[in-house]
Amino acid sequence: MTPRSLIAGIGGYLPERVLDNDALAAAYNLDTTDDWIVERTGIRRRHLAAEGETASAMGAAAARAALDRAGLTPADVDLVIVATTTPDSAFPSTAVRVQGHLGITRGFGFDIAAACTGFVYGLGLADSLIRSGQARCALVIGSEIYSRILDWTDRGTCVLFGDGAGAVVLTATDDPAETRGILSTHLHSDGRHGEILKIEGGAGSTGGTGLLRMAGKEVFRHAVSKLAAVVDEALAANGLGHGDVRWLVPHQANLRIIEAMGRKLKLPPDRVVVTVDKHANTSAASIPLALAEADAAGKLQRGDLIVMEAIGGGLTWGAALARF
Ligand code: UT7
Repeated sequence: MTPRSLIAGIGGYLPERVLDNDALAAAYNLDTTDDWIVERTGIRRRHLAAEGETASAMGAAAARAALDRAGLTPADVDLVIVATTTPDSAFPSTAVRVQGHLGITRGFGFDIAAACTGFVYGLGLADSLIRSGQARCALVIGSEIYSRILDWTDRGTCVLFGDGAGAVVLTATDDPAETRGILSTHLHSDGRHGEILKIEGGAGSTGGTGLLRMAGKEVFRHAVSKLAAVVDEALAANGLGHGDVRWLVPHQANLRIIEAMGRKLKLPPDRVVVTVDKHANTSAASIPLALAEADAAGKLQRGDLIVMEAIGGGLTWGAALARF
């Protein structure tokens, strides 16, 4: 009997400092307006990490909240996956640092660099490792501090992102009658489009600023068509249709993309979880943060079909279907 992965708990962490659009413009002397940002993106404010705060510490905080919600402790965890493109260091990996913060001494952990799609990739990997019997209790964490890789002189990108972390605990079940849990994940990448959304330089390169660069319109052009296709691929793989979806929990990059996806799935707006207004784009953290917020608000009910989708640098994109 192949085990399946149940969503046992969800948690989030947001740094204390909050800047609305006007405060951001003033703090960084940006030639922008609240009206432009809200109209083009739906973003109204974002949380920014404090000096010295790290992706591993934020991820550990989100993980603690998710474990509490699951009624589990760090001693139960045998796999930690952190999706991040703003790791504390190339190594030790952020996941192993999270183990350290939580006092986890068994099992294994590693990071995934798939930019904004990282959490969906992480769910896919954790689910595969649970199904193959290599793990029984996995923390899948998205944790990002994009404020450290933004060019604060580039108004076209620096207004779009925020910092934060979200985590999901997956536990294995061997019950053949169980129909909940991760149904499937569908992962894609296409390296031809690497230049339209990237970090310039990195630990192993010579030169480069280490800052994020994005051709926003180009990314936008790929987003809706690729996301719609991968969601349909996920539903079809499970013999499900648009009418079966209870919640769309999309990557939170731009309200216009999120609303377009809601319309494609013919979902009423109140079935689409939106946090981009309050969190901005937190990259790999945005889906687990949105899940945590929906769960804390009591929206997610046992058995609800949840669709998660994301697109990001690479290009990478993907979708996951889960029954809560
Ligand atoms: O998370 C990974 C996935 N990322 C995404 O999905 C992002 C996808 N892209 C987008 O969300 C949108 O393309 C943006 C929000 C980034 C930009 O919106 P847009 O409607 O595509 O605007 P644009 O880049 O074409 O810029 C329009 C104008 C330009 O001025 P001109 O050339 O028309 O005179 C920009 O210089 O808006 C200007 N502009 C700004 N104005 C005020 C760009 N940024 C700002 C700003 N404030 N912050």
